[in-house]
Amino acid sequence: MKKKNLIVFGTRPEAIKMAPLVRQFLQNDSFDTKVCVTAQHREMLDQVLDFFEIVPDYDLNLMKPNQNLYSLTATIIENMKPVLDEVKPDFVYVHGDTTTSMAVGIAAFYSGAKICHVEAGLRTFDRQYPFPEEFNRQLTGKIADYHFSPTELSKKNLLAENTKESSILVTGNTVIDALLYGIEKVNAENFKDSEIESLKTLLNFQKKIILVTGHRRENHGDGLISICAALKTIAEKNKDVEIIYPVHLNPNVIGPVNELLGGIENIYLVSPLAYPAFIWLMEKSYLIITDSGGIQEEAPSLGKPVLVTRTTTERPEAVDEGTVILVGTNSNRIIEETEKLLNNTAYYNDMSMLHNPYGDGKATERIVNFIEAL
Ligand code: UD1
Ligand code: UDP
Repeated sequence: MKKKNLIVFGTRPEAIKMAPLVRQFLQNDSFDTKVCVTAQHREMLDQVLDFFEIVPDYDLNLMKPNQNLYSLTATIIENMKPVLDEVKPDFVYVHGDTTTSMAVGIAAFYSGAKICHVEAGLRTFDRQYPFPEEFNRQLTGKIADYHFSPTELSKKNLLAENTKESSILVTGNTVIDALLYGIEKVNAENFKDSEIESLKTLLNFQKKIILVTGHRRENHGDGLISICAALKTIAEKNKDVEIIYPVHLNPNVIGPVNELLGGIENIYLVSPLAYPAFIWLMEKSYLIITDSGGIQEEAPSLGKPVLVTRTTTERPEAVDEGTVILVGTNSNRIIEETEKLLNNTAYYNDMSMLHNPYGDGKATERIVNFIEAL
């Protein structure tokens, strides 16, 4: 009898990081694998499904404009019941720290399936940062039967919480599996992409490109206002720089960003880019300013320095390696660190050395082998 897998995700980053696992399981005859999307995100999720050619078996289509954590959590749990009843999975796979991961973890526990947590064990140990992700990840860790940790440090965090060692496997992060697949596809001779063509005409690549993203809930309001003020000053003082900011669709982000940064000559506000255009642009950028978890993990593979607009991170490995600096949301600090990277070549070169602590592109293979051997 084939083992039954149900892989569930809902947001853009989960989709990117689960895509290699979906593709690998679907090619493996020992498993009957089904994919369910909660669609906590809609447009930003669909961009990823298209690129990785994934057609979900179940699409709960749950996203509501400006949704809140209470109703999102409740609806996910409720809507997972019929899917779990029908599929009767042996294993349910959830990823990381979103509301989808946590709520699907709870639903899967009720169903009696074994819960496999991909990207397990990252911690800040402060439940307010990032909010609500740290709590989501800790809770999912409590519910999970198997923990796929990207690094030795994340395994150590789980052991410190008395997680059984035999249930933890250090795999590397599947984000690197996705990135390697993505870069190869994007650089293939016959690959055509209209977003990439538009970026080529929009930006002047003779100038230094600063790529910006930002969406964290704890930065909504004052944090985001302060980040935007810094970007405005950087753009005005450095005419040899172009800033491009693909703006997250969350209304708490789009509103202030458009208001504070719209109409500035060398700042380009664009819609979220599909994954191929985004990784193409990361490669062409001089520097990245972001609060994204996934981008902190990808950028070191591309040799790009990252200024992280957060005061704490559950991904300290690249900070220790020196390719990521936590700058918080203070305008002066962001301006200071950016100017240093723009003007001090030796400092820039040191920070952009190619080394990635997050994986070797074989995380997915390790996960599949582990489950197959059970
Ligand atoms: C969510 C995750 C966060 C993750 C981020 C990745 C939670 C609590 N938050 O935050 O951990 O880092 O995704 O981007 O799980 N929207 C759209 N279209 C989309 C996506 C979002 O219009 O494709 C808008 C909707 O109005 C939606 C709002 O953004 O209600 C917020 O989406 P939500 O998933 O609740 O929060 P994020 O800030 O995206
Ligand atoms: N990304 C993308 N288009 C964009 C911005 C980001 O495809 O316009 C990708 C990026 O390469 C990374 C992931 O989305 O893999 C990060 O998602 P996000 O920042 O939304 O979430 P987080 O990683 O912070 O949870």
